Amino acid sequence: MRVTMIGAGYVGLVSGACLADFGHHVICIDKDARRIAALKRGEIPIFEPGLSDLVANNVRQGRLEFAVDLAAVANAEAVFIAVGTPSRRGDGHADLSFVYEAVREIAPLLSDTAVVVTKSTVPVGTGDEIERILREKRPDVELQVVSNPEFLREGAAIQDFKHPDRIVVGTDDPQARALLAEIYRPLYLNAAPILYVGRRTAELIKYASNAFLATKITFINEIADLCESIGADVQDVARGMGLDNRIGGKFLHAGPGFGGSCFPKDTTALLKTAHDHGAQLRIVETVSAVNEQRKRAMARKVIAALDGPIRGKTIAILGLTFKPNTDDTRDSPAISLITALQDMGARVRAYDPAGMAQARQQLPYITCCEDAYAAAEGAEALVIATEWEQFRALDLKRLRRIMTRPAIVDLRNVYRAEEMKRARFRYVGVGSADLEIGKRTRESRPRPTPITRAPSLQVESADAL
Ligand SMILES: NC(=O)c1ccc[n+]([C@@H]2O[C@H](COP(=O)([O-])OP(=O)(O)OC[C@H]3O[C@@H](n4cnc5c(N)ncnc54)[C@H](O)[C@@H]3O)[C@@H](O)[C@H]2O)c1
Repeated sequence: MRVTMIGAGYVGLVSGACLADFGHHVICIDKDARRIAALKRGEIPIFEPGLSDLVANNVRQGRLEFAVDLAAVANAEAVFIAVGTPSRRGDGHADLSFVYEAVREIAPLLSDTAVVVTKSTVPVGTGDEIERILREKRPDVELQVVSNPEFLREGAAIQDFKHPDRIVVGTDDPQARALLAEIYRPLYLNAAPILYVGRRTAELIKYASNAFLATKITFINEIADLCESIGADVQDVARGMGLDNRIGGKFLHAGPGFGGSCFPKDTTALLKTAHDHGAQLRIVETVSAVNEQRKRAMARKVIAALDGPIRGKTIAILGLTFKPNTDDTRDSPAISLITALQDMGARVRAYDPAGMAQARQQLPYITCCEDAYAAAEGAEALVIATEWEQFRALDLKRLRRIMTRPAIVDLRNVYRAEEMKRARFRYVGVGSADLEIGKRTRESRPRPTPITRAPSLQVESADAL
């Protein structure tokens, strides 16, 4: 099958490469000429495990090509739209300008039988508008518009695309359904269920799924806060909950709040859609607000670890991306945390295995270091903000030697408090009452008196978090 992918970003490039790997002939088109030139040279512009080999293999076998020019659209049986839909500045609606621009550009070139497939995450009704634009530009033909939202996760994108939990196809047109079934046939043979629904329903499934996952994360984060106050351990609570099949253990990891290129913008966009239609999504509203506050509020943990003001102090941050195995720092909690620390007068030294270049654009005033130990040099506290594998077995003795003060703020609960206690580190995790190792232990702490979790709450500008 001849497929054209408009947009060669995280979703377009991964989807294009995977579809080529299924045996289709795919041309990925991007208006970013530098990106396309890099791809033609065999350079992958994003960090995604396995993608480089997948692209190289399929290019070599002649199934995957890259272009700036839209000419290939004319021969395509399916044209996927995988351009960005960021938050619109000012009101938080999904910015659909890239989607509509792409549709206007491809409209004159589409063959009479081509099917336009929206892979970008777009609000309910976007497919209707795409159809309207196509009808306006091509009154001669009736082109089908299908919603086919993508559920892949950065860092595990190829695995997710090739082994999806489900494929959602939103269209009532039997021929368009048959075409999508043919495109995804290799997955169908692997028993990935294809869910055929109406177009608007498909569009909403994507937002409802992301909002639900965001809710799960926020729920466990609030339980983590409670754990800190009452002397329970959120990791054990999460395990105890997750073993219940009705709940499931995924997305129950307490941390600094959700970030990334999808959850924050998608929850906001869903709320806007609901408001526009006079519906209230109070749970999602709360999730979005709680999460936004939480990211900056993580600075309180640093203050707690240092017993007070952080002005003039050097803080090392490990991990800048919103999760491991990606170079994506969009809406990363680490970025919010660093700006909060800097607002309070701290100096920040940072290291990330893949996200330094992106982060540097957002954070011009940090010292970028070449590894974790360079970042820790002279620091009074070290914060693990992203759980990259290489941060899971840090040389604690070396850290003790090079840090000015042995304090670790572990926002991903990579380490256990006991381990840190043995290594004589001051340790602050998320959702565990063992905030001050060596000073108080769970058992010795008086109960049920609430623990004053944050000496931090009384110190400099913490209210602004
Ligand atoms: N990143 C994820 O993990 C993920 C997962 C599922 C769904 N999504 C959704 O997929 C969509 C794309 O996300 P992304 O992260 O891949 O975005 P991205 O910013 O990485 O890539 C978008 C690409 O589209 C290109 N582009 C924009 N307008 C174009 C045009 N008219 N013609 C050709 N190219 C054009 C841009 O140059 C860019 O390279 C979004 O709607 C997003 O919400 C993303």
